[in-house]
Formats: sequence, structure tokens, C-alpha cells
Amino acid sequence: MRILVIGGAGYIGSHVVKSLLNTGFDVRVYDDLSTGKRINLFKQAEFVEGSLLDMESLKKALDNVDGVVHLAAKKAVGESMAEPEKYANNNLIGAINLLNAMTDKNVKYLVFSSSAAVYGMPQTPQLNESHPLNPINFYGFTKLEMERFMEWYDRLKGIKFVSLRYFNAVGYDEDGDILGLEEKPQNLLPVVMETLFGIRSQMSIFGNDYDTPDGTCIRDYIHVTDLATAHTLALQYLERENTSQILNLGTGTGHSVLEMIQETERIVNQKINYTMAPRRSGDPAKLTASSEKAQSILGWQPKHSDLENIIRSTWHVYQNTYEKNQN
Ligand code: UFG
Repeated sequence: MRILVIGGAGYIGSHVVKSLLNTGFDVRVYDDLSTGKRINLFKQAEFVEGSLLDMESLKKALDNVDGVVHLAAKKAVGESMAEPEKYANNNLIGAINLLNAMTDKNVKYLVFSSSAAVYGMPQTPQLNESHPLNPINFYGFTKLEMERFMEWYDRLKGIKFVSLRYFNAVGYDEDGDILGLEEKPQNLLPVVMETLFGIRSQMSIFGNDYDTPDGTCIRDYIHVTDLATAHTLALQYLERENTSQILNLGTGTGHSVLEMIQETERIVNQKINYTMAPRRSGDPAKLTASSEKAQSILGWQPKHSDLENIIRSTWHVYQNTYEKNQN
């Protein structure tokens, strides 16, 4: 099969490209390089620079394509509340363009990157796919809307999709093949790394008065290589079963913010300069996934998501980029 990976120069997209190439898929990457990086591209995959907002270029990129993995979206929760128009353009209009272009070009399979943000505040500590859907930020709303669009395009146009609801994506390719770092990261582990390498002088833990064993929030951290494998399995599933699915991707195990920092300190043998700060609005105390559905439907199992692996693989990429600052 020939697969178009939209957003294939991004953090998760580049890991998906690697997994697809290793499995023997023919891969074409479509990316506008707004946040994606050339350094993340694989020479074995054809690259087309283009935007989801450019219908003509998008349709051309879909020539002779059997399936699409769509990961090109804005993903900063806070920014989505301040600049919803950006998220409406990219995450909604762009993705609807894709559904229309796929209809036009008769491409039938779509793997979509969704998010645990579609659930909103958890009503149970561990979430399965039938948990109520009440996003509390505009980013989560855009992901939920696209799941609903895909359900309609399945019914009306026969586009079969697998929507993958990621929990907290972390880690880097362990072979060191993917080295692009996100700029101005907001997520916990990149912030920990930037503090470690002196890019920021200190970091904050947002709240230590939660109802958790050490008072800090608990999240389900899933290695990006495990996420990538799920996309490959989802394409194989679509080809085999021709049925749409919505699936959580997490480990089912949670780690607290303090645990993440202390594990990093232990592994790199260096102290991290952090202070306690007030809670960040919209943060639930505990968010972990039930991924039993992905395990039974795709035969997927996280294999890279132990904390040591997650932290080491991330540290190595930061070392590669910032080692000069270390000397
Ligand atoms: N945190 C800190 N300090 C920081 C950054 C984060 O204490 O500098 C804490 C947060 O308060 C939270 C935890 O670390 O308790 C994880 O925060 P992240 O920002 O890394 O991740 P979130 O769980 O908030 O969100 C992530 C993705 C979203 C996605 C969501 C779904 O970033 O895109 O998971 O579960 F919607």
C-alpha cells in the first residue's frame, strides 16, 4: 500500500513514517513545515511540501495513494483557547478539506490522530472509549468534531477510519533516527529537559495539593514509538477488516509529575531546578487510559513505554542538540 502521511515531518508523524517504512509500506509525506522539521524526514519517503488549505496540492499528493495518516494539527491546549481561529482553520477546515479530497480521489482508509482531550474532565480515574465526551478546551473540541465528521463520511462516502486517542505522547526513537525538537515546548518532559540543559533557569510543578499520593498530577505517558506502531497496525486493520474504530492509546499506568522529575534526576544524575507553583487550570488530578480495545482489536501492546526508556531516549536527543551548552 502507498500511504500519505500528513504531518510526517512532525514529532509523532516522523515516528509513524519510520514504523511504516520498516513494515514495508510505500510512504509519501505531506507537510507544510510550519512546525514539522526537515531533519525529521526520511530519505526513503517521498516528500511533498504543502498545506491542507491548498486543495489542488492536496489532491495531487493523494495521487495513487491507498491510505492516509493525518497528524497535521495544532496541539497546544492553552493556545487553542486564546486563538480558536487558528485551530478552526488547521484542525477543522484543513481536516474537512482532506475528507473532501479523499472523496474526490477515492481514497478509502484514514488513520486520524485524536486525543484524550475529547473526554474533558474524567469521571473515572481510568478512561475507556465509552466515557462521556465533554471537551473543556477548543483543541479537544476540534478533535471530537473531526471524529463526528469521519463517522458521517464513513456512512455517506465509505471512508473507513481509525481514530487514535493519544494520552501523553513522550520519548524519542531509540535508534536516534529522529532528532527534531519542538520549539517552545509546554509539555512536561521537554520542559524538564530544557531545565536540565539550561535553556530555562527553572521549571514549575503546577500544583502539589491534588488528591494523589505525592500531591502532583498523574498522567499516562506513552512512548511515541508505541504510538507509531499503532498507526501501522491500524492501516493493516483497515485493509483487512474495512471497519471504522475509535481507540485509546495509553499504557494504563500513571506517573506523577514529581515521579517524572525524580526519575529524570536519578537517570541523568543531575538535580533539576523546580519550584512548586499554583495549579494550572483545567488539569485533572489523574488521567489514565484503558487501552483494552486497541489491544484486542489491533493486537497492540506498548513495548517501549517504561519510564527509563522514555526518559533516556528523550535525554539523548536533547544531548545531541545541546551538548555544546554542556561544555
Ligand atoms: N506540568 C508541570 N509543569 C510544566 C508542564 C506540565 O507541572 O511545566 C504538569 C501538568 O500540570 C500536568 C502534567 O505535567 O499535570 C502533564 O502536562 P502536559 O502539559 O505535559 O500534558 P497534559 O496532560 O496537560 O496534556 C497532554 C497533551 C494534550 C492532550 C492531553 C490529553 O499535551 O495535547 O495530554 O491527555 F490533550
